[in-house]
Amino acid sequence: MNPSLSIPASSLPKFTRIAGTGSMLPVRRVSNAELAAEMGARGIETSDDWIVERTGIRARYFVDADTGASDLAVGAARHAMDAAACKPEDIDLIILATSTPDMVFPSTACIVQSKLGIVGCPAFDVQAVCSGFVYALTVADAMIRTGTARRALVIGAEVFSRILDFNDRGTCVLFGDGAGAVVLEASDAPGLLATDLHADGRHVGILCVPGTVSGGQVLGDPLLKMDGQAVFKLAVGVLEAAARATLAKAGRSEADIDWLIPHQANIRIMQSTARRLKLPMDKVVVTVDEHGNTSAASIPLALDVAVRSGRIKRGDTLMLEGVGGGFTWGAVLLDY
Ligand code: ACO
Repeated sequence: MNPSLSIPASSLPKFTRIAGTGSMLPVRRVSNAELAAEMGARGIETSDDWIVERTGIRARYFVDADTGASDLAVGAARHAMDAAACKPEDIDLIILATSTPDMVFPSTACIVQSKLGIVGCPAFDVQAVCSGFVYALTVADAMIRTGTARRALVIGAEVFSRILDFNDRGTCVLFGDGAGAVVLEASDAPGLLATDLHADGRHVGILCVPGTVSGGQVLGDPLLKMDGQAVFKLAVGVLEAAARATLAKAGRSEADIDWLIPHQANIRIMQSTARRLKLPMDKVVVTVDEHGNTSAASIPLALDVAVRSGRIKRGDTLMLEGVGGGFTWGAVLLDY
């Protein structure tokens, strides 16, 4: 049940902490060579070499026709709840970041809530494209620290394969499907230390899916459009600024970061961000090679992979950073 908002300030939790992580990928792994062969059969030229050199991507996962974002989200959420040793009835808030929801409405969060057998707690989607997970984490942190919830499922889940134009070689090679989740809970020990969110709607057009549904028809183009070079230039600058702002709010420095977990858009953006923050690449969690860009799912997926491989340990300081359509960006600094 939701605790009352009339809780005295003295009994509100000081922090929220990640109690468990989880993730889920679709079954079908598609290598660059396989994708290049499929595209080549339609007269569109690309190659493993081009994709690896420009992006660092070697493979991605695509869902089948019967799988939606909610299915991947449920798998990731169960995985995270197991890791946190909590049951569905312990969850009193669900926030799900996605740009590829199951349907126009209701929210994918409500569909996930139902599939998990949870009844009554607030559940809603956050739409901030590739920054969605850091937005969702920031909202959940605020809701827990103000007493609205004690234990939240925060999920990023995407099926970008549904909105890709497989005739546009400049975009279709970049993205994949997947989901990642964390259980976030009230804690007196750190915890999330600081967050920093931004948006600049002047750049709506550089990364968008401009179509919409109206009068029973799709109006406009429902496939992803991107000005890759404009995105690249903006992304690198704002990721550095968000990281520095978050460190300043928490009274920490770059030297305190054990692991940088950037949105997995492209290895060159990650290398450039790490260079600007004077972090060696062996402190950067990289999964873009195997997952491609899974938008709002990329950060929790990378986090879960690094936790389960034993690289990230309890007490490590993590910098999570998202950037994407909107234009949106943000960072979360936390002690794991
Ligand atoms: N295979 C082969 N050739 C290709 C491909 C491909 N898949 N895609 C584009 N090309 C060609 C272009 O047609 C162009 O050919 P031309 O010179 O004959 O016209 C040439 O490669 C260079 O194209 P550019 O678009 O200039 O390539 P660029 O070096 O900028 O790389 C890329 C493109 C990888 C998208 C780059 O701009 C980039 O990394 N941008 C960042 C954007 C990003 O990562 N977005 C992810 C989503 S946004 C987010 O998550 C934040």
